[in-house]
Amino acid sequence: MKPAVLVCRAVFPDIVDRLRAHFDVETNEADVVWTRAELIAHLQGKAGVFVTGTQPIDAALLDACPELRAVCSMAVGYNNIDVPACTARGVLVSNAPDVLTETTADFGFALMMAAARRIAESEHYLRSGAWTKWSVDAFAGTDVHGATLGVLGMGRIGQAIARRGALGFGMKVIYHNRSRLDAAIEAELGARWVDKATLLRESDHLVIVVPYSAASHHLVGAAELALMKPTATLTNIARGGIVDDAALAQALRERRIAAAGLDVFEGEPAVHPELLTVPNVVLTPHIASASLPTRRAMANLAVDNLLAALGAGEHAGRPPTPLNPEVLG
Ligand code: DGY
Repeated sequence: MKPAVLVCRAVFPDIVDRLRAHFDVETNEADVVWTRAELIAHLQGKAGVFVTGTQPIDAALLDACPELRAVCSMAVGYNNIDVPACTARGVLVSNAPDVLTETTADFGFALMMAAARRIAESEHYLRSGAWTKWSVDAFAGTDVHGATLGVLGMGRIGQAIARRGALGFGMKVIYHNRSRLDAAIEAELGARWVDKATLLRESDHLVIVVPYSAASHHLVGAAELALMKPTATLTNIARGGIVDDAALAQALRERRIAAAGLDVFEGEPAVHPELLTVPNVVLTPHIASASLPTRRAMANLAVDNLLAALGAGEHAGRPPTPLNPEVLG
């Protein structure tokens, strides 16, 4: 009998076919966002699960699904998965790093530029029929080229954004991260490590790319926003909850910072109602990695991990991107 696996959300059919060749696969073709109880019910008897960045996998769920041996996510962020709880139960966890780095960096840069140059705000104005004449300062924003790019979190995606800023737009790059980059990478990116307060004070365009954890919850709130320049922009492509959305909406409304670009939100898909009414923010529905080739690569990597973790045919072996390789023995 083939092992049973669950694919939690609708994904590309040919990618599910890769799983069907080896497993008894249950899918969610209707793409229902299952409650926790529904997820636990669907996981009964499953040896593996393909998740996205949104299904919470914690100790209580694992205890309710004792046959589970592998949790493979197509997201790079894994704050929805309690990795130590999985490790304690011998459950392999994998995420999907690298394959989305450049696509996500493209989007972060685009969102930053849209905020700086007021693209969404001016497009809404034009569509509303309000444009009757050209004006010298209409929707005049802030420059990106030559400005100071501040990167909060300097992992793979942060470095890809820094590279775009430094090499493509002649930006001065400063960053804050728990650990400093190697001197050679700093030199390549022309990037300088600064403390968090300096980053906030000096950035013309702040881009947030830190992973979400209890330690990064509200890493940018009212006190941090108060340090920023009134001409600065803030872009968050990391996770909701890192920025205090209520404090950000207020800072935007009072023009204490110029503009923001947000792809992620606290409690998404709900969006703080104040953010929906301030004009100087560009809002997108968590799509930074959403180019078709990249979403396919992310899903294929999750499948590669699942096949290897459950020892499927010629794929048996070490999963390519495990988060807790110690369970492999
Ligand atoms: C990721 O991969 O973490 C993206 O945010 C999509 O969830």
